[in-house]
Amino acid sequence: MAHVERVYLDYAATTPLDPRVYEAMKPYFTEQFGNPSSLYAQGREARQAVRTARMQIAKLLGADADEIFFTSGGSESDNWALKGMALALRRAKRGRHIITTAIEHHAILNACAWLEKEGFSVTYLPVDRDGLVSIDALKKALRDDTILVSIMTANNEVGTIEPIEKIGEFLQRRQIFFHTDAVQAVGHIPLNVKVMHIDALSLSGHKLYGPKGTGVLYLRHGFRPDPLIHGGEQERGMRAGTENVPGIVGLGKAADLAQLELPVEEWRLTNLRTRLITGLKELGAKINGSVKYRLPGNVNVRFPGVAQETLLIRLDLRGFSVSAGSACSAGSLEPSHVLTAMGRTPQEAGESVRITLGRFTQEEDIDAFLTAVRTEIEDIRKKQD
Ligand SMILES: Cc1ncc(COP(=O)(O)O)c(C=O)c1O
Repeated sequence: MAHVERVYLDYAATTPLDPRVYEAMKPYFTEQFGNPSSLYAQGREARQAVRTARMQIAKLLGADADEIFFTSGGSESDNWALKGMALALRRAKRGRHIITTAIEHHAILNACAWLEKEGFSVTYLPVDRDGLVSIDALKKALRDDTILVSIMTANNEVGTIEPIEKIGEFLQRRQIFFHTDAVQAVGHIPLNVKVMHIDALSLSGHKLYGPKGTGVLYLRHGFRPDPLIHGGEQERGMRAGTENVPGIVGLGKAADLAQLELPVEEWRLTNLRTRLITGLKELGAKINGSVKYRLPGNVNVRFPGVAQETLLIRLDLRGFSVSAGSACSAGSLEPSHVLTAMGRTPQEAGESVRITLGRFTQEEDIDAFLTAVRTEIEDIRKKQD
């Protein structure tokens, strides 16, 4: 088969490593290979590199450096926040009720399912047609024994941005622990854990042009979840295991770059998104999710009567990488739990595709994509007639 120049439009699944991040990581694979726990020179160098990365992440989030804990990614951070806090709070006899939403990533939903088996009770808040959670629904779900609320900052399928600041303010007044899965949001929209009253936040390196297998759990001073991984005293005794120094250095650098470039990039991607949405609507697409409260790089659309696999396969053959929803549920035959929670029928969910833009997407890519979609949709419709 002839070589097809590919256009990557699935940044929500994963982002390419930024070449500047790669350059920053390189020495820590080779000459600066020390263990941060060692007392001699190489150990001190590695320790200093981890310290710098911790400060870079803290700055991006508006946190203090000692509130940053390195993990292996978004899934571990989500599991740790939920299981660790639920177990610690139940032991302190604070209760056993947890509130989350129906549209969370499976790292949250499956951690909640595990907690239900351990005797916790979980309420899954509904969302409206745009994927937004309401504070009223949250208020109604609260119980005397509610110990923890976890609501994502932005959804990975439809890009809906939840009213995190309002939720955080409300929960802080009630003194209820508030975690947010910000894996899709960090580095893409402005966030500040103090201003937004967030007690714990998960992020993942590979969603912000950093390395895969790296992540962070931000934990506000004073909160101590049970550790998920027991062993040595790394991460102040909260997360054992020799630190992934190159990965941590890369994540720090990625955070630094995101902070520097966020304002311009947010604006640039929002413009590209508008161009794409306008073009897709002209071809008969219906938009899933809010346009107002939406990640700059996310587009999720439905072509009535066109099965998502048909369109995705045709676009793949033309060199375009787009997705049918979340990468983690790719291959699953179930309709998207996010779209069905937003009131779409299973058939409508099966006609939806997610196109996500990022740092290396250019206007030409959008135009080439629109031309390809037009050709394929016209061909599919002709065959349907
Ligand atoms: C919202 C959300 N949470 C959690 C994760 C899991 O992150 P990781 O792949 O780093 O485990 C993802 C990744 O797709 C995500 O989009």
